[in-house]
Amino acid sequence: MINLLTVIGARPQIIKAAAFSRAVKEKFSSEIHEKILHTGQHYDDSMSSVFFTEMGIPNPDFNLGVGSCSQGKQTARMIEGIEEVLLSEHFDGVVLYGDTNSTLAGAVAASKMHVPVFHIEAGLRSYNMSMPEEVNRIVCDNLSSILFAPTVTAVENLKREGFSAASPVRFSGGKNQLVRQVGDVMYDNSLYYASQAETRSTVLKRLGLEKGSYVLATVHRDFNTDSRLRLSSIFKALLYLADSENIKIVIPLHPRTKKAISTNLEDDLLVKLSNCGNIVITPPAGFFDIINLERNAKVVMTDSGGVQKEAFFYGRPCVILRPETEWIEIIDHGAGILADAEFERIVEAYRKLVGREIVFPPLFGDGHASEHIAEMIVDYLN
Ligand code: UD1
Ligand code: UDP
Repeated sequence: MINLLTVIGARPQIIKAAAFSRAVKEKFSSEIHEKILHTGQHYDDSMSSVFFTEMGIPNPDFNLGVGSCSQGKQTARMIEGIEEVLLSEHFDGVVLYGDTNSTLAGAVAASKMHVPVFHIEAGLRSYNMSMPEEVNRIVCDNLSSILFAPTVTAVENLKREGFSAASPVRFSGGKNQLVRQVGDVMYDNSLYYASQAETRSTVLKRLGLEKGSYVLATVHRDFNTDSRLRLSSIFKALLYLADSENIKIVIPLHPRTKKAISTNLEDDLLVKLSNCGNIVITPPAGFFDIINLERNAKVVMTDSGGVQKEAFFYGRPCVILRPETEWIEIIDHGAGILADAEFERIVEAYRKLVGREIVFPPLFGDGHASEHIAEMIVDYLN
């Protein structure tokens, strides 16, 4: 039996972990025993426990309860806690997702103890080193035994950095570092949960929304929330569109953004937001609600990596509130437009996308990425 430790901490990782845990439970339970470690990076019910409940993820076996603090302190506390767990019992490998501080901590703790690291969502690059996520993913990729790349672009990025199908970097047991294109575990989830969301979510009714006649907007990137100029520019554009297009804009607020809009918006914007009948601000949505909001939106506007992709999975156009994106194929297929945090570009991108015929080819795998990953981990460790 292979003993794996899955490390999660932030909302998107909990969601991604659901796909892998499901594959282990349904198809690999005689070969893999998985334990889950939650770093506690996200801790509000709406950012964490709601996903365990809705998506049937097993409760974490370990919770470090690290909470919010500065980048260094948060990562250091996680490394210390993960190391203790790895010292307390034997694990054959550690499974990590994406690019958060929880990912970085897991990669550092495991690799220093010579425990193989399996990185799901490897090879993504924004080529913007001012993002904490870019630092995290580059370090994690370099410390991983298998780099599970979701897309062709991710594999090409890795090749440019000198990784190949089997890179000549030796890891525990003298094995070479492997790059494998497996598809995207979030795409697995989108196929698995879409019909459940249709019946289990009442969000459209609750918020008084008509299918195809509202915009879904999410904002949480530090470079958007922590800059008064950028945050104000984004919200000014949302207000302008809500008014000029007479369209409802639903904004499930990340806790970081909730704090920022009360302290960091230019004068009178907060009041205008509260007074605008077409702006619907809600707490962070659960998974069934967010899927339904994404699937039925006219346009999605976001700086989230995951929401960009899910918009594509569900055939919705997306205005990307960032200067660049790791998911470049969304732009290449005309399904997304980079608008950064610039008022005119956001308004123009919305108008262009509304009038555009878009094709959404299946670029993110066959919907069985998690099973491919489990199979390759079993092969690697046997
Ligand atoms: C983190 C990830 C980011 C990811 C995002 C997903 C890093 C460096 N960033 O960003 O890549 O896209 O998660 O949502 O790992 N807070 C709460 N309750 C919570 C969690 C956070 O109130 O349950 C507030 C705290 O004020 C905290 C702030 O949000 O300081 C930011 O949280 P943090 O986990 O540090 O970063 P995110 O912005 O969430
Ligand atoms: N998400 C959610 N509720 C929300 C906003 C997002 O459940 O209110 C989900 C979304 O469907 C996706 C994931 O969270 O699966 C994306 O995470 P997030 O935007 O926090 O971070 P990122 O993907 O940018 O790292």
